[in-house]
Amino acid sequence: MNEEFERKLDELARLVTHAKHTVLFGGAGMSTESGLADFRSAVSGLYNNKEFYGYSAERILSREFFEEHPEIMFNFYRTELLNLDARPNLAHFALAWMEEKGMLSSIITQNGDALHQRAGSRKVFDLHGNVYKNTCLKCGKSHDVRRVKYCEGIPYCECGGIIRPGIVLFGETPDPDVIFGCVREIAQCDLLIAAGTSLRVSSAGRLLDRFKGTLVILNNDETALDDRADLIVRGKMGEIFSALWERLKKYERDTARD
Ligand code: APR
Repeated sequence: MNEEFERKLDELARLVTHAKHTVLFGGAGMSTESGLADFRSAVSGLYNNKEFYGYSAERILSREFFEEHPEIMFNFYRTELLNLDARPNLAHFALAWMEEKGMLSSIITQNGDALHQRAGSRKVFDLHGNVYKNTCLKCGKSHDVRRVKYCEGIPYCECGGIIRPGIVLFGETPDPDVIFGCVREIAQCDLLIAAGTSLRVSSAGRLLDRFKGTLVILNNDETALDDRADLIVRGKMGEIFSALWERLKKYERDTARD
């Protein structure tokens, strides 16, 4: 990697090892190296892709569309979003290790893939919900995600109600308890690392508006908050976290020796 990248990663490692309360604010760019598409990347982003069943992905992922055309939404959701074969990638594992070593306090993710939890992270706030939470709209019964994944058309509960995936759609607000937890985390945070997110969505903006500490942005492309960042690292998530993890393991060895 080039000199500027190395210098920035040295600075990032210094910030992480000196911070008191670090929070990772993540987005779809954390999971693309696990085979999941993101939304706004130029070519591969779902929102920049062709139409699906005659509608844009953004339109399909709205509360209004789910109520009007549930069958189309479930077909799109199953083929484009719900990938049960996806596995955590190096960045997920690096973050779980950082939490275990006391170098990361929590993760706020906009992703619903639960890959952070599967990598071993314990304190994770699913700001936009989680594909593994599926409940019947009529009786409230919880259902296994495979009931939604491996069925044709609309998944129904035994009571006849529609089984609703636990993700936040456009036109809906995140769970107030989750928001409260995120606000509390960010209020205590002195280092916030935004990784793999364009920071374009209002729930992200509202949360980060309150943040007054050191902001680091790790992202392939420009984001909506670049002008507020104290450090920006452009590059692939796997490369960035591999270089950071290497530095943090060295730091841990060196301080263990002292
Ligand atoms: N390495 C580094 N950056 C990456 C990688 C990668 N391998 N893959 C993608 N990215 C970056 C892209 O450059 C992009 O800017 O991740 C960012 C992902 O941004 P979005 O696609 O906008 O995803 P996100 O910010 O998570 O979207 C937030 O919008 O549609 C809603 O609810 C949906 O949770 C989603 C929210």
